[in-house]
Amino acid sequence: MSDADLDVHRSTAEATRALREDVREGLSAPQKWLPSKWFYDAAGSVLFERITELPEYYPTRAEREVLRREAAQVATITGARTLVELGSGSSEKTRLLLDALSAHGTLAEFVPLDVSESALAGAAAAIATAYPQLTVRGVVGDFTEHLGLLPGVPPRLVAFLGGTIGNFLPTDRAKFLHSVRDVLGVGEWLLLGTDLVKDEQTLVQAYDDAAGVTAEFNRNVLRVVNTLLGADFDPAAFDHVSYWDAHNEWIEMRLRARTDARVRIPGAGMEVTFAAGEYVRTEISAKFRPEGVRAELTEAGFAVEQWWTDAQGRFGMSLSRAID
Ligand code: SAH
Ligand code: TRP
Repeated sequence: MSDADLDVHRSTAEATRALREDVREGLSAPQKWLPSKWFYDAAGSVLFERITELPEYYPTRAEREVLRREAAQVATITGARTLVELGSGSSEKTRLLLDALSAHGTLAEFVPLDVSESALAGAAAAIATAYPQLTVRGVVGDFTEHLGLLPGVPPRLVAFLGGTIGNFLPTDRAKFLHSVRDVLGVGEWLLLGTDLVKDEQTLVQAYDDAAGVTAEFNRNVLRVVNTLLGADFDPAAFDHVSYWDAHNEWIEMRLRARTDARVRIPGAGMEVTFAAGEYVRTEISAKFRPEGVRAELTEAGFAVEQWWTDAQGRFGMSLSRAID
């Protein structure tokens, strides 16, 4: 392991406080919900990496195909000196960008940011070893709160891959894109991966694989609540549901109580009851149309300079410049 700096903007105590607030709000709502960032403790990050290798989960492969084909273009167009990656996870696909930007001769710094300290520490160390000429500065933080703290010499390229932009509700998504634009100077860059609308079966199966890995990933949020807040959820008592909401054009992940249940959550000072069949919404994953992505980026203060998809047109990638 080589050393890579890690700036930790979130202690376990802070995470526990934040989870308490989210649990109080989400599990007392008429339609119960939990924010998706709570999937990603160390076990959740490992499960997510297994998802990216599943036959049903095409987004990772489709996005990698685009990056492999276009990374050199991204380097030529941006001439980035810093690559910032939001929700970086393992940063596996990101190596294609690091290779291209290094070959182009401009890259000096890599700044991965993630809430998952374990995923980030592993990825930052591996990349510092593989790219000894790079300054690697990992940031453990929440990309909805800690964007103002991003280091790096300009021009910076912010990469937001994996279709994670789809995990915001539309209003939060607009706020997020504006906040990214706000931390960038005019002429800096955003590379955004967006999963595209397609047939329902492909989408539903991408979030409900035959091997049951996604189901375990979904249930992991209950384990995180048990660990941090001393709750007594029985994860096995909840069914994993992947539902295509055709009106909103998003996949909704749910955990549905198999029977009536009562759960104690001492760390949030509450007791939650479930009727059989009642569910918690644990995530949305919005699917996009090219014209929608363009409109949202434009509205947030970006000029879309490139739009690419994989050969099958499953996954889109836009390269945008921050403008006045
Ligand atoms: N970019 C990787 C991982 C995508 S999964 C890929 O394309 O495969 C989403 C990643 O975002 C996870 O690593 C998760 O830990 C991180 N994440 C989720 N919510 C976050 C938040 N609010 N702030 C920072 N990181 C977050
Ligand atoms: N950003 C990923 C996506 O929306 C996250 C993800 C993949 C996910 N599979 C999941 C989240 C299953 C919850 C459950 O594709």
